[in-house]
Amino acid sequence: METHGFFPAGLYRGKTVFVTGGGSGINLGIARGFAALGANLAICGRTQSKLDGAAKELEALGARVSAHAADVRKPEELAAALTTCRETLGPIDVLICGAAGNFLVPAERLSPNGFKTVIDIDLLGSFNASRLAFDQLVETRGTIIFISAGMAHMPYAYQLHVGAAKAGIDRMMQNLALEWGRHGIRVNSIVPGPIAGTEGMKRLGGVDHERRGSDVPLGRMGTVEDIAHAALFLCSPVADWITGVVLNVDGGSGLSGSANFNANAARLLAEEAGKSQ
Ligand code: COA
Repeated sequence: METHGFFPAGLYRGKTVFVTGGGSGINLGIARGFAALGANLAICGRTQSKLDGAAKELEALGARVSAHAADVRKPEELAAALTTCRETLGPIDVLICGAAGNFLVPAERLSPNGFKTVIDIDLLGSFNASRLAFDQLVETRGTIIFISAGMAHMPYAYQLHVGAAKAGIDRMMQNLALEWGRHGIRVNSIVPGPIAGTEGMKRLGGVDHERRGSDVPLGRMGTVEDIAHAALFLCSPVADWITGVVLNVDGGSGLSGSANFNANAARLLAEEAGKSQ
């Protein structure tokens, strides 16, 4: 349900929001939420065509948009994107660290480079963005949101690499909240549950799982708007005294453990193995 109207119109007018991985999915949904409330958006990602489509969507909502082809694993590319953002839209008020990579793989088949790749995109990439945006965030007394995952706090099968990266992100989040609070910078994480229609669901849950809202205590799959609403709240003045928090936005799905995920992922892997034979 589209309920950005719950927030005051213009809540983020004149603010600059920088979103890594902002070309699609949950991150684009968050960007749309901020744009609808008046913010200007800088988005970065690896795929120019995705960024171009996303920029058009955000402009249609009234935002000024700066789109950057930049890989979060490469500090020099991120630094250039952050500098251009500052020059065109002004210093960053909100940084959303959402760029992530994922695939299902049994631990014994995960290669050292596969492990490193996800650590580099998720954990190092989130550090790079936060560290390089620090000066701008000091200027605005800004806010950072990390997009974490349930596997940071409980083992999910075939997700060793992602669990390690996201657990690192949540520890880093608290460290930054502790150290940067004196600059007025707030830092929090959002843990999304199963979100319909996303790349993550396709890779990890399969289409059947999308229909399985009954696995979720609140009885439905999440939407990108559910996650956007949490970000809009956490970055707003009413959350002014909230920092260092991991906020589950998952309809309660994290309460029932990872057994359903594990069974579904095993089925997906078996299907893939069948196809490749
Ligand atoms: N199973 C096992 N290993 C895999 C894999 C899979 N499904 N997909 C990639 N890898 C391994 C590769 O084999 C490689 O390791 P190797 O050199 O030992 O063979 C390593 O991971 C890097 O793969 P590569 O394709 O070169 O990385 P990339 O930087 O081009 O892509 C990924 C990064 C792998 C995370 C890719 O899936 C991606 O770009 N994802 C972005 C979108 C996404 O994941 N969205 C969902 C977010 S929840």
